[in-house]
Amino acid sequence: MKNIAIYPGSFDPITYGHLDLIKRALGIFDRVIVAVSHNPSKGVLFSVKERIEMIKRVTQGLNKSVSVEDFDGLLLDYVKRKDSAVIIRGLRMISDFEYEFQMALTNRKLDDSVETIFMMPNESFSYLSSKLIKEVVSLGADVREFVPPLVQQRLKEKLASSSKNTRRIKNVRCK
Ligand code: PNS
Repeated sequence: MKNIAIYPGSFDPITYGHLDLIKRALGIFDRVIVAVSHNPSKGVLFSVKERIEMIKRVTQGLNKSVSVEDFDGLLLDYVKRKDSAVIIRGLRMISDFEYEFQMALTNRKLDDSVETIFMMPNESFSYLSSKLIKEVVSLGADVREFVPPLVQQRLKEKLASSSKNTRRIKNVRCK
């Protein structure tokens, strides 16, 4: 079956840009699986479980053909396990191109039967990045234009709890 698309990524956390891409992909494919990477090498703010829960909640109102899962290991192996042959990736700006080009061609070299399809989010989301959203929210900015309310709430809670932990660590006296 070739009409299942896999949309992999870190989604730490999901933004309106990701959501826009999921909606666009649903217009083309029968089923879209949002695949959240474990990616232990990448420093992430949210656990895989937390990221999945947020994506599930914010995609609830969409077509039933979207599902959210985690994956570990090689993306291509996961794509094949899911009976898919399509990887969706978002291209926001030219700066994304080099990394995406490398990944797509490496994946193609490993398995030519899997195609990477690039989609562009609406231009109003083209500058959004999870990394910058985390940075500005940690400095007190309001990010309601970038992420759904639930995600903004989770970001605030997470950053508040991590700064509490940091304070606790700083207050530990060395004897
Ligand atoms: O949102 P991200 O962090 O840019 O997503 C990157 C992701 C998860 C798609 C990429 O790191 C990935 O595919 N990881 C799985 C391991 C793998 O197959 N690596 C080879 C990629 S060519």
